Amino acid sequence: MNKTLIITGGAGFIGSHVVRLFVHKYPDYKIINLDALTYAGNLENLTDIENAPNYTFVKADITNEPELRAVFEQYRPDAIIHLAAESHVDRSITNPNAFIQTNVMGTANLLNLAREFWTLNPAHTHGHFPDRKELNNLFYHVSTDEVYGSLGETGFFLETTSYDPQSPYSASKAASDHLVRAYGNTYGLPFMLSNCSNNYGPNHFPEKLIPLCISNIINEKPLPIYGDGKYTRDWLFVIDHAIAIDAIFHNAKVGETYNIGGFNEWQNIDLVCELIKQMDAKLRRPAGYSEKLITYVKDRPGHDKRYAIDANKLKDDLGWTPSVTFEEGLDKTIDWYLSNEAWLKNVTSGAYQRYYEDQYIN
Ligand code: NAD
Ligand code: TYD
Repeated sequence: MNKTLIITGGAGFIGSHVVRLFVHKYPDYKIINLDALTYAGNLENLTDIENAPNYTFVKADITNEPELRAVFEQYRPDAIIHLAAESHVDRSITNPNAFIQTNVMGTANLLNLAREFWTLNPAHTHGHFPDRKELNNLFYHVSTDEVYGSLGETGFFLETTSYDPQSPYSASKAASDHLVRAYGNTYGLPFMLSNCSNNYGPNHFPEKLIPLCISNIINEKPLPIYGDGKYTRDWLFVIDHAIAIDAIFHNAKVGETYNIGGFNEWQNIDLVCELIKQMDAKLRRPAGYSEKLITYVKDRPGHDKRYAIDANKLKDDLGWTPSVTFEEGLDKTIDWYLSNEAWLKNVTSGAYQRYYEDQYIN
């Protein structure tokens, strides 16, 4: 089909799995991984495909319009899957401006360039897809369920749930979602959007709960539990997110939104105890050995109580369901971290280590 596809944020956690899936599955596409390589971007995530003939890495910052324009001029993308973002809620509390710059202004830069280049392109379909397989001028925005705010004890986020973001991170993602829809509505930019629950799996930077606890259990360091530990998140294996993105990108109608999630809610403290159970067994430590590492710490300001996704629209329309159970996904994830200790050491050295120590140790 010979399509050129830019995937932004492809050196990050989720982006690296999306890039790998597309490089393997679509040998006819030219896949451009556009990433600024911030602290969260790591080309070690992609060493297995770095020499694939249909893969190119381009170091570029989406907040830098001239740099981004040069990439559009050079590669003339037919479609964009946009994942590049600042993604950690705690960092958004200490430095909100970085989130506004990358998530809002960076997305606006991409939208403006997509609009400019695709309107000039004779293949531009102005929002109509005569042949859905053509992928002409499609802007796929990858977003989060955190835009919906916090749930009480019951209920689920639906695609129709009103936005009510509570953290600088979720507010910046909500702003970018609104911009994408506004460009669709105003300029006919063909777009689609998905809002996913919390991901876990290989390549996850160890500042988020699951990889941080895996890393700290290995190294016998404190496992920081915010507040009472009864906050609830809905966890999805990252490869299932990548598979859902592929299904939506290739089969959804233009202008659609899908929620992605695995109906897999866990209170943080129960999840950490589950990790301890599985890891103590794998590390041949006595059962419960790492429980002593659990350390209740000051709560995150404005902490969202509960997230839970209703992913039935995705199942009904496109037949997507998670390919692994949580038990299987966690097992694969722990095994990956245990066999990739060098990766863990590399990403936790230097600047990140100092950030972590400032936040939780000093
Ligand atoms: P991540 O932090 O692991 O990776 C982000 C990537 O974006 C990194 O490779 C980084 O170098 C790159 N990047 C950051 N700023 C950039 C800039 N200015 N220009 C170019 N590249 C830049 O994030 P992730 O967890 O993989 O999340 C990817 C996307 O998925 C984000 O848009 C996030 O909001 C969304 N999302 C994440 C989750 C989750 O659980 N992690 C859940 C739902 C949605
Ligand atoms: P996190 O992985 O940061 O994802 P998000 O904030 O985007 O949901 O956090 C998941 C949950 O775990 C959230 O309720 C905050 C909590 N948490 C801790 O209790 N301790 C930690 O060290 C971290 C990083 C998170």
